[in-house]
Amino acid sequence: MTQLIEKTISFVKEKLHGAEAGHDWFHIERVWKLSRKIAETENCNQEVVELSALLHDIADSKFHHGDENLALKISRDFLESQNVSEDIIQQVLFIIKNISFKNRGEVPEEIPIELKIVQDADRIDAIGAIGIARTFNFGGFKNNLMYDPNLPPKLNMTKEEYKKNEGTTINHFYEKLLLLKDLMNTAKGKELAQERHDFMLKFLDEFYREWRVE
Ligand code: ADP
Ligand code: NI
Repeated sequence: MTQLIEKTISFVKEKLHGAEAGHDWFHIERVWKLSRKIAETENCNQEVVELSALLHDIADSKFHHGDENLALKISRDFLESQNVSEDIIQQVLFIIKNISFKNRGEVPEEIPIELKIVQDADRIDAIGAIGIARTFNFGGFKNNLMYDPNLPPKLNMTKEEYKKNEGTTINHFYEKLLLLKDLMNTAKGKELAQERHDFMLKFLDEFYREWRVE
């Protein structure tokens, strides 16, 4: 590991001290490791991938009330303090800016491979067993219902169906988690996402089965 990566790890750990479980240091660590795993299979700039993975959630707006510009400024100041070149800084900031699920559709056609990699890694950490745990953890934090059997969610809901279902944790699977596998950019990402997707389908089957108590 380079000294720059070690320094970045310490910086991010310190910044995320006390963050909620969905976006804490351990989420960053998993995304960083997943990014490295995917990067091995692609022709890319490893330093840009690792820096972006480590810095991608430095100020998640939902919990820190931080705006996007603040996150970018914090990352820029840190990278400048480490004498990282302006070229690399711009690549990393572009990735941090464009990585989010919420921003999908706004990313330019020709997206850099490093963004594709870190975005896949971040999305993979949102699905599978870890994704399920993060989602119920978030739902608990919001005091949401786990599930409402009178309003069973499904894929491709109409706007009205969707509105009725908003707010249950199980609904979030249909709103986001089950859509992620088809949004993967890289071959390795697709492979990892498929396994976790299948696991979520099994989980949902079992969840509904146990709910019914037959
Ligand atoms: P991103 O960081 O990809 O933009 P979010 O910050 O919106 O996505 O969500 C991160 C994680 O928080 C999701 O993967 C999910 O586990 C959880 N989450 C977000 N919104 C909800 C919700 N409405 N219900 C349950 N979990 C949620
Ligand atoms: Ni993230």
